[in-house]
Amino acid sequence: MIRRAVYPGSFDPVTNGHIDIIKRAANQFDEVIVGVLVNSAKSPLFSSIERVNILKEVLKDMPSVRVESFDGLSVNFVRECKAAAIIRGLRATTDFEYELQMAQMNRVLDEGIDTVFFITNLQYAYLSSSIVKEVAKHGGDISKLVPPPVERALIMKYKEIANGQQN
Ligand code: PNS
Repeated sequence: MIRRAVYPGSFDPVTNGHIDIIKRAANQFDEVIVGVLVNSAKSPLFSSIERVNILKEVLKDMPSVRVESFDGLSVNFVRECKAAAIIRGLRATTDFEYELQMAQMNRVLDEGIDTVFFITNLQYAYLSSSIVKEVAKHGGDISKLVPPPVERALIMKYKEIANGQQN
């Protein structure tokens, strides 16, 4: 039986911290599906198509990993993928309460699906998509925080926004 897991998230945009989790999950499961939530409550900077395309580019050398978008409940998407595990990363105790609540709720919604947590590498413990966007917005160096396609996409996006505001 193929052991398949889904890593759901906003990925707005994907960071080196996410990629580390994806690589480690790919070592533990036969297949990992990265699920990009379309209608995130967080009003994303990148459209779901942009987020999916960036992830596909960044993960193109990982044959057991694929990228798809989804809407609605994560557990429904996990079931559609015929997977039995949800992957999530845990950076610090501050993540724990929200992640625990979500994992418990997902178990109530479908007790056949388990959440598997990977503890973020110490070198990425401070990293989040929000903090990367904040640094990029103000022209800071993000080359160590995200892969090159994400860096390029962020620089272009904030240029577009700045140009739009001038017109
Ligand atoms: O990257 P994020 O924003 O921390 O990911 C959060 C995500 C997408 C995993 C979570 O918001 C989610 O699963 N949303 C879909 C709706 C859902 O299933 N919520 C959890 C049960 S209420």
